[in-house]
Amino acid sequence: MATVKTRIHEREGSDLSRDMRELTADNSPRNPVVTALRRQVANGFVLYTNDKLYHWQTYGPLFRDLHKLFDEFARDILATVDELAERVRMIGQDPPAQLSEILDLATVASAGNYDRLRDMIEEADRNALIVIGEMREGARIADEHSDPGTVDIFSKIVQVHERHEWWLRDILRRDDGLCS
Ligand SMILES: [Fe+2]
Repeated sequence: MATVKTRIHEREGSDLSRDMRELTADNSPRNPVVTALRRQVANGFVLYTNDKLYHWQTYGPLFRDLHKLFDEFARDILATVDELAERVRMIGQDPPAQLSEILDLATVASAGNYDRLRDMIEEADRNALIVIGEMREGARIADEHSDPGTVDIFSKIVQVHERHEWWLRDILRRDDGLCS
């Protein structure tokens, strides 16, 4: 009967052993799984600061709801940033943690200046849709690279953004007969 060492040796050169080696401390910074994770760490940092800005700058009749809503979103996002960043460390690379690097990597928009709260909420919704698309793609890429751990993380975290996007989308609906 072959020893474990022999069986591993026999599998060298196969797709499986290449994938297993790929997701180790030797993992390349250019590996598509690493790139996808690092981008979502950067996006998470930007969304966290955006949500805090929205939390602080809201006003008007919906102040209490929006103030509390965006603080809850900020807390949700901060937890996801840590999980994504630790996954990057786990597979052998460094998450972005310097502001210049975060802004370089992020694909979501940093919060702008607004005349209306609706513009602010529309921006939050657009950003959520960007992250949802990229996380779904990230899960697909991780699956192609035989990395079920990262598939699981993306699949779990995308649901946080999908819930946020649902709430934002429904806040933006008009003709409710109450406020508009
Ligand atoms: Fe606060």
